[in-house]
Amino acid sequence: FNKMAESLQREEELRKHLFSNVAHELRTPLTILKTHAEAIADGVIDREKGLGNIKNEIDRLIRLVKGIEDITMAEASFFTKGETVEINLREFLLGICNEMLPAFKQIGLDITKLRADVLFVCTGMDKLEKIARNIISNSLKFTPLEKATDGIGGKIPYKADGGLKPPSAHTVRERSSLTGFTEKGGVSIDYGIEGEMYFIEIMDSGRGIPENEMPLIFNRFYRGAKSDTESLGLGLEIVKELVEVMGGRVEVKSIIDDGTTFRVSLPIKGV
Ligand SMILES: Nc1ncnc2c1ncn2[C@@H]1O[C@H](COP(=O)(O)OP(=O)(O)O)[C@@H](O)[C@H]1O
Ligand SMILES: [Mg+2]
Repeated sequence: FNKMAESLQREEELRKHLFSNVAHELRTPLTILKTHAEAIADGVIDREKGLGNIKNEIDRLIRLVKGIEDITMAEASFFTKGETVEINLREFLLGICNEMLPAFKQIGLDITKLRADVLFVCTGMDKLEKIARNIISNSLKFTPLEKATDGIGGKIPYKADGGLKPPSAHTVRERSSLTGFTEKGGVSIDYGIEGEMYFIEIMDSGRGIPENEMPLIFNRFYRGAKSDTESLGLGLEIVKELVEVMGGRVEVKSIIDDGTTFRVSLPIKGV
């Protein structure tokens, strides 16, 4: 009974928090939309360009609403734990990697080969997929190629023909020997068992997370100081919610300009 009261209180708090945040997040794109519409009406901006901007802002709004839906769903599933099914973790992760590979290849990054071990786990498949996708898409987004330097502080521009030769930067080489990355870097995914839990580790050779941002990254609408305009700051919040619902935990390790590792641990037998 106590637990139920606790749940209700928690729900109420989350809801209050959500509404105040959402109102704030909606205001920005709406203001921008209004500005563009006015600019078109006043003839101070080219009609086509103005409409293009309006479309971009609407796309952002749509993603925002989708993200809020995802969070609401994750929170609701806290009360109805949902189904677990037995999956072959390797096959499952392979499927996600294959789907995301083109996006990586496009900017010249790798996803390294998965280990061969077969591991069956009982888990909430839809939730796990959202978790993995969110973390991997961050790795993609925050592993810019221009991070590679020529070793004396200058940036080496990325060439479309793949002609990027990163530096004498030994961090890159050390890392590649550790993870099997090519020199360009990328993402490597690993998994295994620890006690009653299985874990998935997603490691990137990206720009890392500043120490002062670490406590904030799972907060709703938090995006790092250097995040792009596409960022909504909802991805890791969704990850955190889902991992909690599934009775697991998520840990992060990061070194600036070297890379970030997310480790998600979940019960092997579901909850
Ligand atoms: N792999 C990563 N490398 C570097 N920074 C990251 C990584 N993953 C997350 N972050 C930081 O955490 C913030 C929050 O992530 P997230 O909630 O997914 O929001 P978004 O992707 O919309 O920015 C990001 O804006 C970024 O600053
Ligand atoms: Mg994200």
